[in-house]
Order: sequence, then structure tokens, then C-alpha cells
Amino acid sequence: MSSVVNSERIPNNVDLASDKKLQRALEAWQPRFIDWWKEMGPEGFQEDQIYLRTAVSVDHEGWAHFDYVKMPDYRWGIFLTDPVADRKIGFGDHMGEPVWQSVPGEFRNVLRRLVVTQGDTEPASVEQQRLLGQSCPSLYDLRNLFQVNVEEGRHLWAMVYLLHSYFGRDGREEAEALLERRSGNPDKPRILGAFNEPCQNWLSFFMFTYFTDRDGKYQLLALAESGFDPLARTTRFMLTEEAHHMFVGETGILRIVQRTAELMKKNKNEDARAEGGIDLPTMQKYLNFWYSVSLDLFGGEISSNAANFFASSLKGRAKEESYEDHRAVDGIYAMDVPVSAGPGVVSGFRREEVPLRNAMNEVLRDEYIEDAQRGVDKWNRALAEAGIAYKLKLPSRRFHRRTGIYGGLCFDVEGNAITKEEWERRRDEWMPSEADEAYVKSLMTAPIYDAKLMANWIAPPKHGIKGRPVDFEYVKRTA
Ligand SMILES: [Fe+2]
Ligand SMILES: [Fe+2]
Repeated sequence: MSSVVNSERIPNNVDLASDKKLQRALEAWQPRFIDWWKEMGPEGFQEDQIYLRTAVSVDHEGWAHFDYVKMPDYRWGIFLTDPVADRKIGFGDHMGEPVWQSVPGEFRNVLRRLVVTQGDTEPASVEQQRLLGQSCPSLYDLRNLFQVNVEEGRHLWAMVYLLHSYFGRDGREEAEALLERRSGNPDKPRILGAFNEPCQNWLSFFMFTYFTDRDGKYQLLALAESGFDPLARTTRFMLTEEAHHMFVGETGILRIVQRTAELMKKNKNEDARAEGGIDLPTMQKYLNFWYSVSLDLFGGEISSNAANFFASSLKGRAKEESYEDHRAVDGIYAMDVPVSAGPGVVSGFRREEVPLRNAMNEVLRDEYIEDAQRGVDKWNRALAEAGIAYKLKLPSRRFHRRTGIYGGLCFDVEGNAITKEEWERRRDEWMPSEADEAYVKSLMTAPIYDAKLMANWIAPPKHGIKGRPVDFEYVKRTA
């Protein structure tokens, strides 16, 4: 079991004190991180006491500590799961070799890119969510938002630790740049598309934590297989925290579904909006949006980069041990590739047999889609139990894609090719319209800071946090 030091400026289980140079570099980065947090973290809550969980070790039983803390005083630490003795690389060309404790020279640039791309998503999501506190549906939800935010901050720390420790000056420069890019800023955007999309209301927040954080889960699972052991160990521990983010999304949507069902039953026309709720077709549109932008995060269906990551034993498949062939040299993945008949026009599909390594993004996306379906099934069960026939649905993976073989082409939610004109004409049937955005916003104009209250558009959760009641004062406002 690794020993944990929580008394130092940077809590860690990597014996930071033994490497003075690294310690100094990270301690120099720390105040810049705090400046970034104060500028781009949750706006208007930096002085409040929040009931938060803080990672204090990687011990299965008691890895987290719960207490009130002001967010800028949160103890962002560096925690890697304990090393597995004699761990061997589990996939790719280096399968069976001992895992690497330093970066193999030939993979240095590729690996740095992988770490930076993952790292960039973490502060990006904090930036996207920074104004949501001002329209929170309850203190319980406010606390969950902040919990997600501080942990994304810790995930940034996890990646910055790798950059500083293993990538020399380039790594230190990348660590600076992670604090300089800004979500949605056209001059210095975050690296990946979904992380530049505005997340302006709580329906988006819950869809984001369900669908976009779940992309994070699958990226982390794939990196947790890495032959570069420090990356594998740090992402393994990040997954522990990530689970809560998806819980927030899944239960958040579930609670809206439950409340909407109640409001529909109250109304003689089953009109949720008339009762101040969020109607199911509107929820479906937000689902379509966040699901489709999250699918893009997996990258192209046919990708030489993905093949390269896998071949180099840097990024595996989620739960690699569940596969039989870990080299994937001979396998093929058959997919239907759209045939283009002029710009943006699809005339049909052609079956293509893609070498399995080049299809690794699609393999990961398949796992993701299956996992994403589980929550949708749960939401639909809640609707069925309430006697409502409407079903939420994942749209086709072709719908509203910007990257890969479907990127820039037009498909309906069933995956049928349509013309650009039809897309323009019907866009608002499938995606949040300006009017939908305005409506959802109108429900969330004021925050609810009374622990006994819950916004009208969402049901209370079943349980509170860490055995506390639902109406516990999870956030103590100072103002
Ligand atoms: Fe994260
Ligand atoms: Fe997350």
C-alpha cells in the first residue's frame, strides 16, 4: 500500500517530497491553478462552505473524506492506484513486455498528446459549468455540481503531474497551456468540440454528466490499460471519482423524468409545460444534442491514430482482459460507410472491412453506446411505471456528427440520409430550438438556496449524500 502524505502543500501518494525539483515545479504551478480556479471556477460561490468529498488515499474502503470546505481551499492531490507487481503490457505490439515506468523515446510525442487531450477536457468542463450554480434547483444539486467541478480540477492535477514528471520542459509548457485555453473562446478554444459547447442550464448539465462524462469514463478505461504504467495507475483512480459524475447525470435525468410524469398526470392534457415542467420531447432534444457531440469525442471510425495508439500499447480497449485477441492484428471490423454523391449528399452505403486496429475508436464507441443505453432504459422504466407511453431514445450514431465518416453529412435520428434542406427544415424537431432554450431557461431563473425546497421541474433525490438527509444544508452560503 502506498503511503499517503496529506500534510504537504500538495497531498500525494507518489512520495513527492523525495523529488525536490518536481515538487518545486508543481508548487509553482499550484498558485496558477488556484488563480485559474478563481477566475474560471464556479462563479459566486468561492467563499461558501460546501459539503464535499476529498480524495485522501486510494484505499478501497476509505479513499474519501467528507466535510465542509471552501472550494479554493479544496485539497487537490495526486493519487495513483498502487502499482501491480510485475505488471505486463496487456495488448498491442508490446504485449507481454514489462510495463514502462518512463516514457519510451519513440512514443514521447504521441503519449504527451494523449495526456494533454485528456487533461484539457477536465478544466474545460469546469469552465462550461461555471454559471450553473446561479440557477440551481436545490442545495443538494448545487453541492453535486461543485463536487463534479472540484474533481475535474483534481483530474487536471493528475494529468499535470504526468506532464511535469515525465515530459520535461515540453510537459511543463503543456501544463501552462492547460490553464490558458478557454472553453468556447474562438481565439484559444479547448481541444475537443463538445468541451467548447455552452452548458447553460441544468438539463444540459445532467445530459453532459450522463453522456459527456461517460465518454471520459471510456477514454479513462482505455488509458487504464496503457503500457505506460503511471498513466494506467492515475486513470484507474480517476475512474473512482468519475462514477459519481455519471451518477449525478443519470439520477438528475431520472428525477426530471419522474417530476415530468407527475406534472403530466396533474394536467388534463398531460401537458408538462403547462405545469411548469420540462416536457419529454424537449428532454429528447437535449439528449440528441449531448449524445451526438459526445459520440464525436471518440474520434473517426477509421483512424490510423487509433491504430497507432493500440499498436504502440499506449491506449487499449475498455476492459482489455474481456477480449480474447489482444494484438488485434488480423481482426476486421465491418462497417457501412456512406457513399457521397456530391458535397453533403449521401447516395447510399458501402460495406467496408476495416482492419480492427484502425477501428479501435469505433470499438470503444460501441461499448459506450451499450452503456449509455442502460440509463435510457431506466428512465423509460420510470415513465412506464408512471403510466406514460413516451419513450426516450438514443438517436442513430450517424445523427448530427461533425467528425468521422458521417461528419458533415445529414441524417435523421433514425440514421436515414437526408438532404441539407431537410436537415435545416427539421432541425428544431430534433435539436433544442431557440424557443426550447428560452423555455428551459425560464424555469431556471433563480437559484434555490433553501435546503427544504426543490425546484418545481425536478423530483427530490431518493437519498442524500453520505447518509445525510436530502434537505441537509450541503452548501452554507456566506452572502
Ligand atoms: Fe474528469
Ligand atoms: Fe467527470
